[in-house]
Amino acid sequence: MKLNWAERLVVNNPVRVRIQGLIIHWIKGVTELPPQARILEIGCGRGAGACLLQDHFHPASLHAFDLDHRMILLARKYLRPEHRDRISLYVGDALTLPYRDRTMDAVFGFGVLHHLPDWRGGLKEIARVLKPGGIYFLEEFYPQFYQNFLARRLFLHPEHDRFYSHDLHGALIDAGFTLKGCLEQKMFGVLAVAVKKD
Ligand SMILES: C[S@@+](CC[C@H](N)C(=O)[O-])C[C@H]1O[C@@H](n2cnc3c(N)ncnc32)[C@H](O)[C@@H]1O
Repeated sequence: MKLNWAERLVVNNPVRVRIQGLIIHWIKGVTELPPQARILEIGCGRGAGACLLQDHFHPASLHAFDLDHRMILLARKYLRPEHRDRISLYVGDALTLPYRDRTMDAVFGFGVLHHLPDWRGGLKEIARVLKPGGIYFLEEFYPQFYQNFLARRLFLHPEHDRFYSHDLHGALIDAGFTLKGCLEQKMFGVLAVAVKKD
């Protein structure tokens, strides 16, 4: 589901970039990526996360996409010249990833899964494209945070079949992941690094 004006304000600003930078430092403390990694970022928004991923991990390839073409237009403007040749941006849907099975070393999703009406389908797609041993990083929020009285009036999210902590953990296991690192506040959300089993 695309963002409304209020959430676009929340994500398209320098504070959000700073937070993503801190999150990437945390990820680097939890795991490494192989040299020459193939990285995918789902729901990349205006591309700030993709630039940070490029600067921190220097992958062989970095593909980033968003459902919202306006976000991809913003991302094309946001990328600095040194990023433009290295990051491939496109409009796409996390439910139908245009990659063969077992081709990605890492998939990053900053605040995306809880925007998918079929979030379990999204998880399966991510697992499908990851190589065995590949990494899925997720930053996610729980309904207590985004479906409370105020958030419901401000933001736009899918309403049905939402995941709480135990649903997400169970679905990660069902999709073939084990957790390598996890920071969680059950009333708020989670940062996790999950590894796809062989
Ligand atoms: C909360 S924003 C996060 C944006 C960016 N990752 C960040 O952290 O600043 C969620 C993003 O996911 C995108 N999105 C929602 N559903 C999607 C889908 N099915 N496929 C790809 N992107 C999607 C939205 O358009 C939005 O840009």
